[in-house]
Amino acid sequence: MPMIDWERLRRLAQDSARRGYAPYSGLKVGAAGVNDRGDVLSSCNVENASLGLTLCAECGLISALAASGGGRLAAVAVSDDGGNPLSPCGRCRQLLHEHGGGDLLVDSGSGAPPRRLNELLPSAFGPGDLPAKGARQ
Ligand code: THU
Repeated sequence: MPMIDWERLRRLAQDSARRGYAPYSGLKVGAAGVNDRGDVLSSCNVENASLGLTLCAECGLISALAASGGGRLAAVAVSDDGGNPLSPCGRCRQLLHEHGGGDLLVDSGSGAPPRRLNELLPSAFGPGDLPAKGARQ
């Protein structure tokens, strides 16, 4: 696992949040993460007039991870455009779990230690809960 440069991730999350498209909620969100190869990725939220189709910053982060060649996410920071840390929403916790697992470290801001995803999403449903390919009806 790479050494986590939390300050860098926080800065990147904030920079990304500044590019967020949030005309409806007014909350611009950025997410930054590092995978197990040390690649650093980021994204921002993109809202939609339908409201329900809004893409959270973490959704874009997962897309960026896949587009950059994949790997497992090791650490993630999420913040608004003022640099205030945000906790991933429930749906995004599930998305993060698929690509980082329960040991993924989630930033809590500079004043507190990061938390593992399995603390934020206990007893998570995951790929291992699906039947094996050959066993599908
Ligand atoms: N948002 C995120 O980007 N990530 C989260 O984990 C929580 C919420 C965005 C979605 C919407 O554009 C705005 O924050 C307000 O909910």
